[in-house]
Amino acid sequence: MSKKLFIKTWGCQMNVYDSARMADVLAPLGYRPVDEPDGADMVILNTCHIREKAADKVFSELGRLRILKDEKASADDGKMILAVAGCVAQAEGEEIVARAPYVDMVFGPQTYHTLPEMVAKASRAAGSVLNTDFPAESKFDFLPEEATSQGVSAFLAVQEGCDKFCTFCVVPYTRGSEFSRPADQILVEAKRLVASGTREISLLGQNVNAWHGDGPDGSTWGLGRLIRSLAEIDGLARIRYTTSHPRDMDDELIRAHADVPQLMPYLHLPVQSGSDRILAAMNRKHSADDYRRLVDRLRGVNPDLALSSDFIVGFPGESDADFAATLKLVTEVGYAQSYCFKYSPRPGTPAALESAQVPEDVKEARLQALQQLIGAQQVAFNQGFVGRTMPILFDRKGRRPGQLLGRSPWMQSVHAEANERLLNSIVEVRIDDARPNSLAGSVVTGDYASTAHNPVHALEARA
Ligand code: 5AD
Ligand code: SF4
Repeated sequence: MSKKLFIKTWGCQMNVYDSARMADVLAPLGYRPVDEPDGADMVILNTCHIREKAADKVFSELGRLRILKDEKASADDGKMILAVAGCVAQAEGEEIVARAPYVDMVFGPQTYHTLPEMVAKASRAAGSVLNTDFPAESKFDFLPEEATSQGVSAFLAVQEGCDKFCTFCVVPYTRGSEFSRPADQILVEAKRLVASGTREISLLGQNVNAWHGDGPDGSTWGLGRLIRSLAEIDGLARIRYTTSHPRDMDDELIRAHADVPQLMPYLHLPVQSGSDRILAAMNRKHSADDYRRLVDRLRGVNPDLALSSDFIVGFPGESDADFAATLKLVTEVGYAQSYCFKYSPRPGTPAALESAQVPEDVKEARLQALQQLIGAQQVAFNQGFVGRTMPILFDRKGRRPGQLLGRSPWMQSVHAEANERLLNSIVEVRIDDARPNSLAGSVVTGDYASTAHNPVHALEARA
């Protein structure tokens, strides 16, 4: 009999990928995903530890789930196995077991390939199974080959962990040190995805551009070379990668932005701050000018390239002048989109111990100012597309009947009136209207000559 599995995911795209892989590992045990936790046989909270609030949410969610678990037990409907996975589990496993002893399984991001054993233990015994090791083996070698289809746009984890040790960040502790999956394993997974209908692959890694591995030709490959190889897969129309560190943008990867048409012209390249003093205190190992030069080189090879970034405001010791340097950098670079965060001291990270913490009201004011600037840039970026025609990958139905929703090459969300048979394909759309967070357009019928610059998309639009 099939069992109901509910997974709730917080945080980054890597967590979304991990949740899908957990469902793959549990499928042979009879678990099928459901949309609601009520009555589920297993509930997994796949958690994020990057900022403070995320961990708090996990505990309040557990309080609610405990009630559902008790209801299921008193209705004699079997046991609801309650699990906490991901980075909060890795960092605070012991505390979860102590504070919420009704949780059955607590496991970190590197151990979910052992779920069948954990489930067997949790079904038998009372008390929690805690598994937060960094095992010697790679989980990627143990995940089932037969993955559930991820649809037209899919994630593919190629790299995990981080050795950079930015002084604000928990990732090196929760995800462990840098690990690159072998190129042949990645290529096999990519081909399988494309065979199952995927047209767009986003390569994932905490430090994805640090990826390196032995290529099938025996030489050492970097991410640029891997992308070139992926671009040879017939039917794979779009390639993206995230998240990158400025220090790891090598020449070959930059060149790929010039001459691999499948590589989308959008790059998430976090800089965090525009002040050299703060960048040094963050241990970013690059200056604001290094970043400016890198952006110039990228735009030099591909003038269409749009950038996004992450920023932290109120890092310990950040002065008004430091913050002004961030605003200056943002103004000079010009972003399509960005994410701004108030610095949040994370236990176990060096910056949390700094005495010069910035007061909350100052953080809040800087966040507002930066968001305003970023928001204005985003509006201007989107406005620039009105009247232009571009290829949209329709991957969802829109909210209104007869409407499809998709993504532009620049990651904009685009909706248009469109026949449902266009779902899961790449279609030329003329942009009629720009809003801060989305674009509205009309499907272009007839002559697609204007898209001939991109052979992949032009072909598809005609098909
Ligand atoms: N406080 C605030 N923001 C943080 N980030 C990472 N750690 C912290 C922290 N302690 C942000 C960074 C990173 C993004 C994923 O989250 O900007 O790039
Ligand atoms: Fe965290 Fe810095 Fe590593 Fe990114 S590069 S995961 S911010 S330590």
